[in-house]
Amino acid sequence: MSTMGKALLAVTERSSVRRMMTEGGAGRRLSRRFVAGERLEDAVAVAGDLNAVGMRVSLDHLGEHVTDAADAAAARDAYLAAIDNIAAAGLDANISVKLTQLGLGNDDGLALDSLRALATRAAAAGTTVSVDMEDSVHTEATIDIYERVQREEGNLGLALQAYLHRTEGDLARLTPLGGHIRLCKGAYAEPPEVAVQRKSEVDTRFDHLLGILMAAESTMPAVATHDDQRISLTRYLATTRTAPWEFQMLYGVRTGLQRELVAAGHPLRIYVPYGDAWYPYLTRRLAERPANVGFFLRAALSHS
Ligand code: FDA
Repeated sequence: MSTMGKALLAVTERSSVRRMMTEGGAGRRLSRRFVAGERLEDAVAVAGDLNAVGMRVSLDHLGEHVTDAADAAAARDAYLAAIDNIAAAGLDANISVKLTQLGLGNDDGLALDSLRALATRAAAAGTTVSVDMEDSVHTEATIDIYERVQREEGNLGLALQAYLHRTEGDLARLTPLGGHIRLCKGAYAEPPEVAVQRKSEVDTRFDHLLGILMAAESTMPAVATHDDQRISLTRYLATTRTAPWEFQMLYGVRTGLQRELVAAGHPLRIYVPYGDAWYPYLTRRLAERPANVGFFLRAALSHS
């Protein structure tokens, strides 16, 4: 993440800034570019539109770092409802879930049981569950829980972050389990002991891991990037791959490129977030791109 991105994340984590952005209309207006809406119906409607133009979907009910057991159970239930809606509407969609939203870090047993419940319901609905990867404090516990439920249910996927020093080892550990592995660059501000810092180093690591992932026939690679060079390399590696794979991109980011990839016949899944806990998601999207810092400042100033 760039220095400006890290600085933006630090500012947005201040409670006064969070309050200003979430209580006024400015933050909500800004979030509309990246978030389908606050209700499940909004997300289902967007998913239907994306399916109609040949794009698969992953629904993300926004929320993370839940410390209350009742809130964690509510998040699980919201996801169960999402799975039921996917089945009822006949969508080509799965769900993406953060384990801290299900209680990880507070009650890991609850997070495990909830992920198991989601995997079972998703299997009955003929779909899958993707586990997002959060900040490095939670990496090991996330992988442990993923590994356990994937061995039992077999219909999970996991995001791995190219910037972490540990990821090549994790890839070797997890590809034999099948499922889908989403390779992304990584969206959190991490220290140098844990993650490479420079964008060029992250890109080099991504390409190296991408080569390993695309050669692994036992797992389904999900290549999550909007970066032209990484996309070109994926297209090249895909020419010799016989097993399934897909691109993944975020709702609202490089939509022209999304259409081009589908027109060229490439499988693409769009990650569609929805719900009222949009603030941390929005700040990560803004921090990813220096030009977005201007959007944030304009929104903040228009509120003051
Ligand atoms: P890069 O940041 O180099 O962007 C390439 C180009 O894409 C930019 O030049 C710009 O044009 C455009 N772009 C990228 N981000 C933009 C934005 N926010 N706004 C506007 N334009 C933008 N991370 C994580 O830590 N854990 C996770 O579980 C996931 N899950 C996930 C799922 C999916 C489907 C995607 C696509 C991404 C994630 N990520 C994630 C986020 C990921 O780690 C990374 O932070 C972003 O995808 C940005 O990296 P790019 O690979 O797109 O490259």
